[in-house]
Amino acid sequence: MSVQLITSIEEMQLISRQWHRAGLRIAFVPTMGSLHAGHLKLVEQAKANADRVVVSIFVNPLQFGAGEDFDKYPRTLAADMTKLNELAVDIVFSPEEKTFYTKEKNLMSFVEVPGLSDILCGASRPGHFRGVTTVVNKLFNIVQADIAVFGTKDYQQFAIIQQMVSDLSMPIELVGVETVREADGLALSSRNAYLSESHRTLAPELYKSLQKMREQLIGGELDYRQLEQQTRQQLLDAGFKVDYLEIRDAVSLARPDGTSQGLVILTAVWLGETRLIDNIII
Ligand code: PAJ
Repeated sequence: MSVQLITSIEEMQLISRQWHRAGLRIAFVPTMGSLHAGHLKLVEQAKANADRVVVSIFVNPLQFGAGEDFDKYPRTLAADMTKLNELAVDIVFSPEEKTFYTKEKNLMSFVEVPGLSDILCGASRPGHFRGVTTVVNKLFNIVQADIAVFGTKDYQQFAIIQQMVSDLSMPIELVGVETVREADGLALSSRNAYLSESHRTLAPELYKSLQKMREQLIGGELDYRQLEQQTRQQLLDAGFKVDYLEIRDAVSLARPDGTSQGLVILTAVWLGETRLIDNIII
């Protein structure tokens, strides 16, 4: 295997500095592992944009709330390494938790993007996005890449990271990649592995509902609240528990007013114990 596994922060920083001195452009893809074709699409995008590619694999405890799936989150480092090797990735940075976070959670510094982090997924998962922005900032400081690639499947996460990079003038360029889906429309997610057979059969209905809403909006439907409510009810009747399903301004993620240039429909639902998110741009 020619992909190199690095677990040490200092070693990663050293290699990165050497690459920069040699004039090489570095692209970075942060992940929590359990890699699927969605992640690999980000890696391909990274490769197309740089001379060296670093993928991080780290299940970040800071972004999981009490009672969430941190313990059962799939960890498949060997299989992930094989996939990344096939794509000729240069480095997998996969630190151990105890060397990565050396302080108690309540004593360490953190990065927070208020407002955007408090709505939608942030309202249901308090502290989640603070955990994401903190780890992404830390990883950026370690990998020191020129560009970082994210999926727009996590639409709110990408918006928050864009805000963080802009507010704090971080010297990195961000690239967003469209959601990769199964043939039946279900967005690929490491969490799909949790779905029972019957829930897996039902899951594609979520994206179908988003597509239907999109058509209605394009057709001129202006009563957003009514359309949201109707679709929520349909999802509930089908067997989903809807956390949120909302039409939002595609840039600010605020509720649309007359001035919105574009819209996005964002949703999070539960199928049994599994939380799924998806979105569609109008
Ligand atoms: P993770 O869920 O592993 O996702 C890593 C990256 O893959 C994210 O940018 C995500 O948007 C992208 N991704 C996931 N599913 C995708 C799909 N079906 N199509 C395209 N891209 C997809 O997101 C995280 O990890 C973490 O929050 C992280 C940013 C690594 C911080 O810990």
